[in-house]
Amino acid sequence: MCGIVGYIGHRDACEVIMKGLCRLEYRGYDSAGIAMIEPGGIAVRKREGKLSGLAELLEESPLRGHCGIGHTRWATHGEPDTPNSHPHTDCSGHIALVHNGIIENYLSLRMALIEEGHTFTSKTDSEVLVHLVEKYYQGNLLDAVKRAVASAEGAYAIAVISDRTPDEIVVARKASPLVIGVGEGEGFIASDVPAILEYTNRVLYLNDNELARVTRDGIAIYDLSLKPLAREPVTIEWTLEQAEKGGYETFMLKEIYEQPSSFQDVLRGRILPGRDGVTLAMKGIDDAFIRSLEKVSIISCGTACYAGMGGRYLLEHFTDLAVEVDYSSEFRYRCPKLDRNTLVMTVSQSGETADTIASLRMAREKGCKIVSVVNVVGSTIDRESDGVIHTHAGPEIGVASTKAYTAQLGALVLFALHVGRVRGQVTPADARAIIEELESLPGKIDRALATEGAVRSIAQKHFRVKSAFYLGRGFNYPNALEGALKLKEISYLHAEGYPAGEMKHGPNALIDRDFLVVCICTRSVRYDKMISNIKEVEARGGRIVAVGTEGDPNLKDIAGDVIYVPETMEELSPIVNVIPLQLFAYHIARLRGCDIDKPRNLAKSVTVE
Ligand code: F6R
Repeated sequence: MCGIVGYIGHRDACEVIMKGLCRLEYRGYDSAGIAMIEPGGIAVRKREGKLSGLAELLEESPLRGHCGIGHTRWATHGEPDTPNSHPHTDCSGHIALVHNGIIENYLSLRMALIEEGHTFTSKTDSEVLVHLVEKYYQGNLLDAVKRAVASAEGAYAIAVISDRTPDEIVVARKASPLVIGVGEGEGFIASDVPAILEYTNRVLYLNDNELARVTRDGIAIYDLSLKPLAREPVTIEWTLEQAEKGGYETFMLKEIYEQPSSFQDVLRGRILPGRDGVTLAMKGIDDAFIRSLEKVSIISCGTACYAGMGGRYLLEHFTDLAVEVDYSSEFRYRCPKLDRNTLVMTVSQSGETADTIASLRMAREKGCKIVSVVNVVGSTIDRESDGVIHTHAGPEIGVASTKAYTAQLGALVLFALHVGRVRGQVTPADARAIIEELESLPGKIDRALATEGAVRSIAQKHFRVKSAFYLGRGFNYPNALEGALKLKEISYLHAEGYPAGEMKHGPNALIDRDFLVVCICTRSVRYDKMISNIKEVEARGGRIVAVGTEGDPNLKDIAGDVIYVPETMEELSPIVNVIPLQLFAYHIARLRGCDIDKPRNLAKSVTVE
């Protein structure tokens, strides 16, 4: 998500940090800042917007020193403005900190710290960390950081400096990446290797629940009880371009593989302590309003629309609400019947899609409240909605959406669960079971990713086909649409998603031995019906690739190829089942020699009608 760079040594720290932050620029960010230990104490420069703005600020008032930390922020909590940008300082101004991740219990920590007399200057979750370090500081920065992170729940990679101990940077990590670069008489820290590759290719990777002290003389790594840990540097052989992609051949593949952790981030801080419900902190949407609702209208485009369709199945399943779904480009020009008892939901990765913004504004004029599922904090849709569920998927660079889709589905599960609990249609016991299963999904997504070898071999057999159908039923019908969209956008093959039961009403006429049919047939209440639909395709000689549940004994007899994924609740199964569909589209596109990260004729964000 955010970018972190730090330096201690003999060079101009500001220059090293600015260069490092520029190397991370490709990932996207909304503000940037640097803190430096200067002879007079800690000095901070930070600014909303691009690094060029920070560079201008540094020209007007330069930072001079040899020990500093810098940050590019991808907002999660609090708008993308200057006060919320990092580094954050404590009340005394003696400590500065940068953070990447999400602190789940920041609200309770913040309240307790305010009661103890701390003054906050931002709305971020991160700022609690610097005040905790201040609270625990008794002359030993490493010890204070250790005690601070012990109080924090969630994910963090942090770097901390203090002018009282000017010869060190202290770092800590849990569930967010952090690397330490090894130099001669100098040390580097970064959230990603590209930031420091110009200076060193010898790095130490910090693991979860570890801290380190980086000084000019060396690097010491510790566990949470401050027991020293031995670690040998590894030599990075990647080029800069490979390093930007984390060693993956494309951003899309990197993002596909980020899904276990990006899905975890959707859940962070949202499960109630009793585990029988969730909290979504939708400012303008209270329980009384949720109880008064009669209808939900979901509007979005492309992949986000398929997530929205998934949201309809979820809301209809968990609540008694009537739910409609529309493509934004249609919604804005039809005459939808909307009133105060209709909630309009938009789903958008970028938060800047022109048709979705226009639809949102139209709904607002008709008196509807708006709840949006948005990835980019501070985007137009984020700002113009009454309630927002941020997906926290981090920057998505590949044009084809992958991790944003699973994060959107996760956010919609949480929303449906919340509405179901508030309206009394989901029992505490049911909520507990769903939450338990939601929490198991990162592991199941991981296992679904392990199908890549099998998927690659299957793609090898079929990449020369001309057309494909993707079939699914119920919760997995929108997933069939998404699978087909992935294939067409990156491989330029004609593909269509269909509800499997619809095939006999026309599409079956197209099936012959050259027609590829991808069938999502994991265990569900409609499993037998799906099997019958697959048999209809088999009878017409179609090439069947099925996605089935691990241990399913039937599919191998009717499908030419089967990709097995772990079992989960049917309601949540699209989140696991889409993984092999993403990988399949990926490998077909690769075999066809397509430019996967930048497919022809497409833009990442469609800001025109
Ligand atoms: C497909 C894809 C697009 C977007 C669509 C909506 O992989 O990325 O279909 O999903 O343009 O964009 P957002 O979510 O930014 O509103």
